[in-house]
Amino acid sequence: MKRLILSLPSVLGRGASKLKLRNNANTTTSLQGGREFSDEAVDHSTTPFPEFDSFKTHDELYQFSLNSPEFFWGTLARSRLKWFRDFGQVKDCDLIRGHIRWFLDGQLNVAVNCVDRHAEKNPDSIALIWEKDEPGTQEYVSYRELLQLVCRMSNVLESHGVKRGDRVAIYLPQSPVAVAAMLACARIGAIHNVVFAGFSAEALAGRIIDAQAETVITADQGVRGGKIIELKHVVDEAVQTCPCVKRVFVYQRTGADVPMGKLDINLDKELASQPDTHTPAVLDSEDYLFMLYTSGSTGKPKGIAHTQAGYLLYAGLTMKHVFDYQDKELFGCVADIGWITGHSYVVYGPLSNGAATLLFESTPVYPNPGRYWETVERLKLNHLYLAPTALRMLLKSGNSWVTRYDRSSLRKLGCVGEPLNREAWEWFYEVIGEKRCDICDTWWQTETGGIAITPRPSAPGAEIRPAMPMRPFFGIEPVLMEPQMGTELKGGNVKGALCIKRPWPGMARTIYGDHQRFIDTYYKTYHGLYFTGDGAYRTQDGYYQITGRMDDVLNVSGHRLGTAEIEDVIDDLEETAESAVVGFPHEIKGWGIYAFVVLKDEVNTPENEMKEQLKAMVKQRISGFAQPDVIMFAPGLPKTRSGKIMRRILRKIAANQPEELGDVSTLFDPGVVDALAEKHNQITKKS
Ligand code: WTA
Repeated sequence: MKRLILSLPSVLGRGASKLKLRNNANTTTSLQGGREFSDEAVDHSTTPFPEFDSFKTHDELYQFSLNSPEFFWGTLARSRLKWFRDFGQVKDCDLIRGHIRWFLDGQLNVAVNCVDRHAEKNPDSIALIWEKDEPGTQEYVSYRELLQLVCRMSNVLESHGVKRGDRVAIYLPQSPVAVAAMLACARIGAIHNVVFAGFSAEALAGRIIDAQAETVITADQGVRGGKIIELKHVVDEAVQTCPCVKRVFVYQRTGADVPMGKLDINLDKELASQPDTHTPAVLDSEDYLFMLYTSGSTGKPKGIAHTQAGYLLYAGLTMKHVFDYQDKELFGCVADIGWITGHSYVVYGPLSNGAATLLFESTPVYPNPGRYWETVERLKLNHLYLAPTALRMLLKSGNSWVTRYDRSSLRKLGCVGEPLNREAWEWFYEVIGEKRCDICDTWWQTETGGIAITPRPSAPGAEIRPAMPMRPFFGIEPVLMEPQMGTELKGGNVKGALCIKRPWPGMARTIYGDHQRFIDTYYKTYHGLYFTGDGAYRTQDGYYQITGRMDDVLNVSGHRLGTAEIEDVIDDLEETAESAVVGFPHEIKGWGIYAFVVLKDEVNTPENEMKEQLKAMVKQRISGFAQPDVIMFAPGLPKTRSGKIMRRILRKIAANQPEELGDVSTLFDPGVVDALAEKHNQITKKS
């Protein structure tokens, strides 16, 4: 049974499905503009932008994208996406109200754009390369097979009553079934909510409840780094606290004998019994495609919502041009589908371009630190897109793990998630890429939908500087703001809050269920500008370098975490009076997590016991990657007279920089600072 799903389409030997139009609202679809299913996709392999070949230079085209966004984006949306109905207005945006709409009145289907049109043209070309946990056990899925799988999955969902607009939680390991689950939601108009399959039951439940998802799709178990992950077990626990859940589909990844309860449905059996053709729903450009939870500076993760057309266009365009993707190349982004990088550069970007995309199920060090490079050699990957934390870890293992494998297939390399330090950049460029491949340090966020600042695309031969994302992508106009005055910083050699001035199609539309929070978080700090939460430096020549988060968000091993989320858990320990969590620079992870915990009076529990308990609580309620690296039972916290915790001071202590504490005289009790510094010394000496 284990391989049933992948072998299904070929076993049944049916051809690609015939497309029929159907409008889910049961009204006749009016096909204006004669654009129904007209595939006007251009061959992008010769000139990068055949749509704009009158522009001679990259810079001219960039300026044009800013000055004539309607023309620029409208042209690309028409040439690169397949529409059921042409759009009228290109955009209707008012950032002050967080009102963002693109391609109004247009109708399309994202799954058709990602699968059907390629299955029609090139049914046998590879869509997915499933690089399973065990090296050498990869499986390939063609566009025809992917279409059949997506159709079956769509039929399964619909036959169980899942409808347009419903939220579907996906808690699956990296697998073709996971991709098909996402695309089936897109095909029927349901909104997927992928939760990284490393989150705990409580974190999963919070995301299911916030989204009010009736449907969950999971697997019996996951396999990662040679270890079994009990996914179904986690879902069982989560679902107990989610009265909204009506059904749980269980895919057999390992075939383990997991208990099946009242809500559970065997997904493999369902898929086998459904036809492999399906009529796609006709969706509006601005219908929600997915929501994805991400951490902010307050305790509750935010369900960032993206819509159909704008997101897809932006993911596809950036994938194609940042990495200069050419037909028939194998694109390898090793991110998990549980993160935005997996959404945009494992699934939607590559598939909308008809590319072959890697689904990497393993870890960078399984079975040894040569895994990435062995995979590159075996599969002949042309592009590799990864996280700086993995690079820093692998760098420590030495060059021989790299050089023993043939990496000559690689053409472009990229990274995302945190600043890539110079040493890691140079290793990436010189050792991994043999000075042959462009390195793209790409800056973007869950909220931006796709890459926003990146060294490429740029003028042919334009320089790439180490360790900075450098240049805005087409349509992106970054600005730096002075945080105190709220004024724009002009010119070069300035540092400030990174904002983006104009709307672009891939940007988030709202925080699901809380539009006011969306406005307050992103558009209030600098009136009407999109505030990224990051600080940046602009060089004399106008290039951007990211200096790090300006809010209480940490990027730990490429995972985005709110310090408040961790504090919420720590505060629930009975012995805790209050706590403050800050980040400190960490050689491998980028940021480590440092928890200052003030205990209630007269606590007698041994400190080690409480430390273990706190770590276990964080693991249970959020995830293993959120566990603090250092826990200090602190004599007190540095507070202002009005009671505000001075996190700046805690950060300096955690970073071993007590000499840079600055003025502490405004503190209610300045003496606490010395006590904290002393305790920090004791802890770090011990370890
Ligand atoms: C950080 C990941 C420096 C940044 C796609 C941002 C980076 C947060 C870079 C978003 C980079 C991402 N250099 N920092 N190249 N790329 N970041 O939402 O702080 O998980 O705000 O999206 O990662 O994290 P998220």
